[in-house]
Amino acid sequence: MLIPIIMAGGSGTRLWPLSRSLYPKQFLPLAGDNSMLQETVQRLEKLETTQPVTICNEDHRFIVAEQLRTGGMLGKIVLEPEGRNTAPAIAVAVHIVAGEDDPVVLVLAADHVIADTEEFTAVVNKAMPLAEAGKLVTFGIVPTSAHTGYGYIKRGTSVGDGFSVDCFVEKPDAATAEEYLASNEYYWNSGMFLFKASAYLQELEQYRPDIADACKAAVADVHNDLDFVRLDEKAFCACPDESIDYAVMEKTEHAVVVPLDAGWNDIGSWSAMWDVAEKNTDGNASKGDVIHCNSKDCYVYGEERLVATIGLQDTVIVDTKDALLVAARDSVQDVKSVVAELKKAN
Ligand code: GDD
Ligand code: MG
Repeated sequence: MLIPIIMAGGSGTRLWPLSRSLYPKQFLPLAGDNSMLQETVQRLEKLETTQPVTICNEDHRFIVAEQLRTGGMLGKIVLEPEGRNTAPAIAVAVHIVAGEDDPVVLVLAADHVIADTEEFTAVVNKAMPLAEAGKLVTFGIVPTSAHTGYGYIKRGTSVGDGFSVDCFVEKPDAATAEEYLASNEYYWNSGMFLFKASAYLQELEQYRPDIADACKAAVADVHNDLDFVRLDEKAFCACPDESIDYAVMEKTEHAVVVPLDAGWNDIGSWSAMWDVAEKNTDGNASKGDVIHCNSKDCYVYGEERLVATIGLQDTVIVDTKDALLVAARDSVQDVKSVVAELKKAN
């Protein structure tokens, strides 16, 4: 049986001021009526899986438990005392679920939008034989821009329903991303993975034994507290901070890519919110009470007050109770600098 592992420990700072450290974006209903975490587990409905294992920061344990319980998909919740990025998060979750039967796990981010659940289900099912054969499956998205926030996967020869991976480059610089886009030979890494527990742990052991050892130590003596699984704090905090992409995917020779065309989007910024939102004939998208007057291609998120725009173009406005963001739509990645500035000030 397939075991879903949901990574829900990100900080989501690029969606400031809505996404905050106490309430990051995966717990917000950004692209539907339910939170992104809830939509992630609901998307599993048509796949034959066990209950999910969710891994998150311990500060968010009650939000996660509450949101999963409401969705009827509670499962185990693994608590990280501090975030160490995705390579360790996945490793400890895999250790916790892996029994002697070496299950296949489906690693999902809690903050992605996938418009077409049926296609997603079909592609995961198609990828199963590759994972069962010991491959590390990534799901590849045909790139539509030279986005530098994604991993790029060069397609090789065909293998089953996918392709071998000629190379995997995590977050290339802008010029390299342009080159990859123009070549038509690359996919974006969707950040979702399918593999046998042993396949991931062996690759981690081979390429990052330091992370592998720290994660083994962190699960050597886990403490079960109702639905929560607590790691050994000292051991986990001693683990290096690294993503699965740098730690394993750039290095492994067992990766394959299975194309996914299911309306995928990593809601990584306010411009991505505009990308996925429904727009009026002038290209404006809004949430809340909003009036656009002679504006074009704008995104407005209003929480409480009425927001009106006049004669604006390519602008993002996010109005929350205690902070207001006004930004050029193509500069919203720099919200990170505002958050860094705020952290310094506090
Ligand atoms: N539990 C846990 N602990 N989860 C984490 C942690 C952590 O320390 N850090 C991040 N996550 C979760 C995030 O909440 C998100 O759901 C997922 O792991 C991926 O982390 P991001 O920080 O959003 O990664 P990214 O978007 O910069 O890059 C990844 O995703 C891209 C596609 O969206 C990479 O895999 C790229 O290669 C990929 O293109
Ligand atoms: Mg992301």
